[in-house]
Amino acid sequence: MLDKLEQIKQDALRALADIQDETSLDQWRVAHLGRSSAIMDVFKNMGALAKEERGPVGRAANQVKQALEAELTQKTVALAEAALTRSLTQDKLDVTLPGRHIPRGRLHPVTQTLREIYRVFADMGFQVYLSREVETDEFNFQYLNFPPHHPAREMQDSFYVESSQERGDNPMLMRTHTSPGQIHAMRQYAAESPENPPPVRIILPGMCYRYEQVSTRYESQFTQVEGLAVGEDITFSDLKGTLSDFARRMFGKNVRSRFRASHFPFTEPSAEMDIECFLCGGEGCGVCKHSGWLEILGCGMVHPNVLTNGGYDPERYTGFAFGMGPERITMLRHHIEDIRYFWANDMRFLEQF
Ligand code: PHE
Repeated sequence: MLDKLEQIKQDALRALADIQDETSLDQWRVAHLGRSSAIMDVFKNMGALAKEERGPVGRAANQVKQALEAELTQKTVALAEAALTRSLTQDKLDVTLPGRHIPRGRLHPVTQTLREIYRVFADMGFQVYLSREVETDEFNFQYLNFPPHHPAREMQDSFYVESSQERGDNPMLMRTHTSPGQIHAMRQYAAESPENPPPVRIILPGMCYRYEQVSTRYESQFTQVEGLAVGEDITFSDLKGTLSDFARRMFGKNVRSRFRASHFPFTEPSAEMDIECFLCGGEGCGVCKHSGWLEILGCGMVHPNVLTNGGYDPERYTGFAFGMGPERITMLRHHIEDIRYFWANDMRFLEQF
């Protein structure tokens, strides 16, 4: 029996010596260490041996099995090393090959502009306040002092979220501007201390929606950045100072700005701010339509009715507000001729920024 074990071992080792690849090695393992291998048969048939033979045969069989297992491990390592050496010496490494391209994401051009706007206003002490995109007629129009039959309320300007049958006298709609956030913010601030509402200094960025005829200049969705400052003794000079300073920090320290009278229901007086065209330096060019000025934002002193609707006593508090379009600013800066590029998701456009 012991001779037979020695024979089993020698047979297995001889077969192993010829093996050069992993597949044959696996076949060898099944044949020489698997369930129906010769060595396993020896274990299975132990019961047939004479009692005094079982001890020595068992021990010898175990030694053979362990020896074969050790050889298997060694051979596995040897094959792996051989494969590595082969790949290092034979498969030549061409260090001049270009590296693999890792696609990199980037910030949307409007997001880049938004972040600059945040940075400039953060330096001036304004916090970002986020407000909802679905509004009621009350917040989008009524609290902002829109007269009942103002044309902006008409169907063609707003996206309503309810069918015409469902709509009551305070229908829900997608906000047409960020200004309703002024009311939400003031009410939230005032709720902290109704007798003594704290000063407000916030910007309110976000998407707005209008039922527009889409063209190179108008999109049905666009971002706005609203600004609101409310406190005691805030004057039109504060508005002018803050916004001209914003223009210098955003567009260059020598940029001049000017204010033109305008009209919004929620501000009185109201104005629009132009900045000197940064492309031609005010000489006149295609972008500024040969006027030397670019229209940048709408602004004004918060209307007393709006302050009241926000929970601020207009006898004690004043404030200014403004609203600008980051797409338009981005278009001016990068010479983009069509606003529809921004939300069309065309990689050829987006990859340029
Ligand atoms: N809400 C105005 C618009 O959408 C912009 C604006 C905001 C004007 C705040 C004045 C004050 O055009």
